[in-house]
Amino acid sequence: MSHALANMDTAAGQRAALRTDALAGLSAPRKTLPCKWLYDAEGARLFEAITRQPEYYPTRTEIGILREQAPSIAAAVDPGATVVEFGPGDGEKAVLLLSRLRTPAAYVPVEIAPEWLDAVAARVSEGVPGVPVLPVVADFTRSFALPPAIPRSRRLGFFPGSTIGNFEPTEAADLLRRFRGALHPGARLLLGADLVKDPAVLEAAYDDAAGVTAAFNLNLLHRLNRELGADFDVSAFRHRAVWNAEEERVEMHLVATRAQRARLGNREIRFQAGETIHTESSHKYRPERLEALAGAAGWGALEMWTDPGRLFSVWLLEAR
Ligand code: AVI
Repeated sequence: MSHALANMDTAAGQRAALRTDALAGLSAPRKTLPCKWLYDAEGARLFEAITRQPEYYPTRTEIGILREQAPSIAAAVDPGATVVEFGPGDGEKAVLLLSRLRTPAAYVPVEIAPEWLDAVAARVSEGVPGVPVLPVVADFTRSFALPPAIPRSRRLGFFPGSTIGNFEPTEAADLLRRFRGALHPGARLLLGADLVKDPAVLEAAYDDAAGVTAAFNLNLLHRLNRELGADFDVSAFRHRAVWNAEEERVEMHLVATRAQRARLGNREIRFQAGETIHTESSHKYRPERLEALAGAAGWGALEMWTDPGRLFSVWLLEAR
C-alpha cells in the first residue's frame, strides 16, 4: 500500500517536473529539452533497441572490454567488494562484472525508478546467485547518501555506458564528486567513457539507418502530447545528429520542417522553419580530458582499458 502510494506520488511529481522543464526549455531563445525525459517506457524500449543497431558501437564495445579485460579488472579490485551501480540498465553488465570479480560481497543498484530496480534485482539474483542484492531508490543526480545498511568497506562504484557523457562537463565533475562522497574515501569507481573519434562514425551511431534513434528522439514530442496534453504535430519535426567539434560532443536535435505553433498548457510555442530543439548532448572524451575531469572531482586514475579500435574506454579510479 505505501509502495503504491509512493509510486503515485512519483508519477504525479514526475509529470509536474516534466511540465516545468518543458515550459522553461521551450521558452528559451535556443529551445532545449533535458535528455532525462527521453526515457519513458517507450523511450527505454527504443534505447534498448538502439544498443542493438550496427552503427551504435558503444554498448557492444564496452561489453567486449569488460569481457576481454575481466581478469585484469578482477585482479585490480580487492576481493569482497560491494558493487554500487548508479543507474543500472538491464543488469547485463552488472552480471558480467559480478561473475568475474573475486567473491563480491553485495550488489547495490541505485535508481530513481523503483520498477526498474525490481527488474535489475531479479536479473542479477538469477545471474549471480549468492551475491545479495540491496536496491536503493535514490536520485543520484542530486545530493544523496547510501543507507547505513550498505557495507562501508571496499565499495566499488560502477557507472558504465558512457552515461557520464550525457552530462555537461561541469555537471559530470559534480556527479563524480557526489559519487565519491557517497562511496567514502578509499573507494574505487569503474567508469565507462566513450572516446573522441571520426565524426562520421559518431554521427552514424546517433542516426542509424533503421531510424531507431530518430524514433527515440521524436518520442519526446509524443511524450509531451501524451503526458501533458500538448498538440505537437510530430510529423512536422525530424531527427538530426551532429558532431560539435568545439565542444567535442554529438548533439541530438529535433528540427521543425516548417514554421508552426504548438500548445503546451496555456502557452503557445512558436517555431520557425529549420529551428531546432536541442534534446541531448553526448560528450566524447580524450583520455587526458577524462583524467583531468576525474582529478578535479577527487579521483585518481589507476587503469584505463580500451578496445583494439580505441573506440571506448573503461577506467578504474580511486578516491584520493
Ligand atoms: C545513455 N546514453 C549514454 C546514450 C548515449 O550514447 O549518449 C543515449 C543515446 N542517445 C542516442 N543514442 C543513445
